[in-house]
Amino acid sequence: MGLFSNIFKKKQPLLPLADLASLKNDIHSHLIPGVDDGAHTMSDSLEMLKVFQESGYKKVITTPHIMSDYYRNTPEIINAGLADLKKEIKSKGIDIEIEAAAEYNVEPDFEEIIKNDNVLTFGGSNKYVLIELSFFSEPKRLNETIWALNNKGYSPVLAHVERYEYWHNDLDKITEMMNRGVKLQLNIGSLTGAYGPGIKKVANWLVDEKIVDLVGTDCHHLKHLDLLQLARKLPKFHELIAQEQLLNSTL
Ligand SMILES: [Fe+2]
Repeated sequence: MGLFSNIFKKKQPLLPLADLASLKNDIHSHLIPGVDDGAHTMSDSLEMLKVFQESGYKKVITTPHIMSDYYRNTPEIINAGLADLKKEIKSKGIDIEIEAAAEYNVEPDFEEIIKNDNVLTFGGSNKYVLIELSFFSEPKRLNETIWALNNKGYSPVLAHVERYEYWHNDLDKITEMMNRGVKLQLNIGSLTGAYGPGIKKVANWLVDEKIVDLVGTDCHHLKHLDLLQLARKLPKFHELIAQEQLLNSTL
């Protein structure tokens, strides 16, 4: 992956691997085989889950894409994939819990899903819903969609909030999201610079401001877990997982 090619060569002051026991749960990944651009096969999934377990995670809440143009997943498809994966985890003796929700693209079809109350959530009665935005421009009906979610008692969680470059010169947009009741999710890999220096800068800012509600690996393949191991040595990551507002361990 070109995306990650230079990251491991850069010199950064590194600490010993952070203990993930305080984090406990990952809340953003693509581990159900064959349903999106994450794991292709069952053996991909199992290999990744082994690394999650060895890294200290107790539970993974995996979140396949639901996006009308590319990934027309439904709760039925995702739950069937989860059941198959659970069986394999058990038969291979991998000691990790797994649940599934989804990563919803904010688009007109999603508003229909909300209307029909057919939304996959995580965090029990908190009813967290992971949403993502286009990387090119802010969706026209973003505020209406957030309002619709809140109105139905869901709690929207904005996936990788640091990756929307059209907000980088206007960080008030991010505080506006918080004021609308949106929880903010940071990709752990963003702290390494893997997604670019601008994204790293905003990721660091989110940590400095203590406004990250949830962190996730957004793991699609094993390379993302290499980023996790690198991030675990960064002072900024150590700082982040000690912050009190983080919700990962409560799920
Ligand atoms: Fe994702």
